[in-house]
Amino acid sequence: MSDIIAAIDVGTTKICTFIAEASPEGRLRLIGAGRVRSQGLRRGVVVNVSAASQAIAESIELAEHEAGTTIRNAYVGIVGGHISSHNGDGAVAIPRGRSITRQDVERALDAARAIPVPSDREIIHTIARSFTIDQQEGVQEPIGMHGYRLEVNAHIITGATAAISNLVKCIQSNGVAIEELVLEPLASGEAVLTADERDMGVALADIGGGTTDVAIFLEGSVWHTIVLDIGGDNLTRDLAVGLRVPFDTAEQLKIRYGHALPDWVAEDENVSAAAFGDAQSQPISRRYIAEILEARTEEILHLIQREIKRSGYDGLLPAGVVLTGGSAQLQGAKELGRAIFRLPVRTGAPEGIANAHRQWLTPAHATGMGLLLWGLRHGPSESVRRSSPLVPNVREWLQGLLPG
Ligand SMILES: Nc1ncnc2c1ncn2[C@@H]1O[C@H](COP(=O)(O)OP(=O)(O)OP(=O)(O)O)[C@@H](O)[C@H]1O
Ligand SMILES: [Mg+2]
Repeated sequence: MSDIIAAIDVGTTKICTFIAEASPEGRLRLIGAGRVRSQGLRRGVVVNVSAASQAIAESIELAEHEAGTTIRNAYVGIVGGHISSHNGDGAVAIPRGRSITRQDVERALDAARAIPVPSDREIIHTIARSFTIDQQEGVQEPIGMHGYRLEVNAHIITGATAAISNLVKCIQSNGVAIEELVLEPLASGEAVLTADERDMGVALADIGGGTTDVAIFLEGSVWHTIVLDIGGDNLTRDLAVGLRVPFDTAEQLKIRYGHALPDWVAEDENVSAAAFGDAQSQPISRRYIAEILEARTEEILHLIQREIKRSGYDGLLPAGVVLTGGSAQLQGAKELGRAIFRLPVRTGAPEGIANAHRQWLTPAHATGMGLLLWGLRHGPSESVRRSSPLVPNVREWLQGLLPG
């Protein structure tokens, strides 16, 4: 029987639930998807538990209906300005005469984790960046090797307990247990980066509605993560203010006609929209729209660049920058990125999931699709396996009832 993996991406602008079947060969097939407009979130963080729970419930229902199955566990994305990260080391002794086991690696990671964390913060991930066995540095896979001392260099990601608890509450109130909370850019990375890019060195920037999340990958694993409190909503708000139009009108103008490079838009091209207080639509210069968008897009890209520089890995990214998230779809963003970063830049859309409709394979769904892939790569965990018999696939169950 296939394992079921479920993912919930609680974004600032939209909430998505995805349900996939994992084949014994380790391939994912999407069987259900639900997307609703977000409620109760600000800049990636839950600010109204009941509104967010309700919206999450709707997205789960849509996905379950399509999949013909119910979910009990899900991988859930977490993001927000409260996230911070640092690197730490942990070392353990290996008893004489035996090779290193998974338990030794876990003990080393526990040692790296054993740092004082303020009482209002919690560790979300402890990710091994590299290992040292005795004097040998840069070991990627220590299990099975011999040595007396195993040291891990880990990337430790923490978040505010209150923000984490509120998100957990929203999910659990829908009868869904959290399989794992996954930092959103790490999930997005699963869906849009190639193994080559991760090995060579790449920065992933997920520019969503409320946040911009950056993760730097080197030698196959994550080395640095940053969450910035800025995103596509800022672009829309700038347009709404600059053009004196309602937010929803500005959002439509941005998506249909937006461009990050005014020079690429014909000077005399006009679009029409009704401003506040106007009953009728007025012509608006498309180049003016682009000028407004250019300023903020530049700011976001400069902030990404500043964080990459601050990480100290800026010279180590031959694969450049991969832009994803809904705002990566803004025309001209990639080209503006190339000019600012002076690195290769591409737009990343999710890959690696069969049976997914085209609409789910867009940059805005990198996190949701990536959560499924994260579940596949880091699981299916014991609890998914354990829960599988409790979560029968309704179609299989029905087939079991049918004669012959
Ligand atoms: N074609 C487009 N051009 C420009 N912007 C776009 C386009 N399509 C979507 N967007 C923008 O993408 C943003 C939403 O992106 P996404 O769905 O990745 O965000 P989210 O996951 O809800 O939010 P976050 O990750 O920040 O919590 C919105 O600001 C939207 O306006
Ligand atoms: Mg998002």
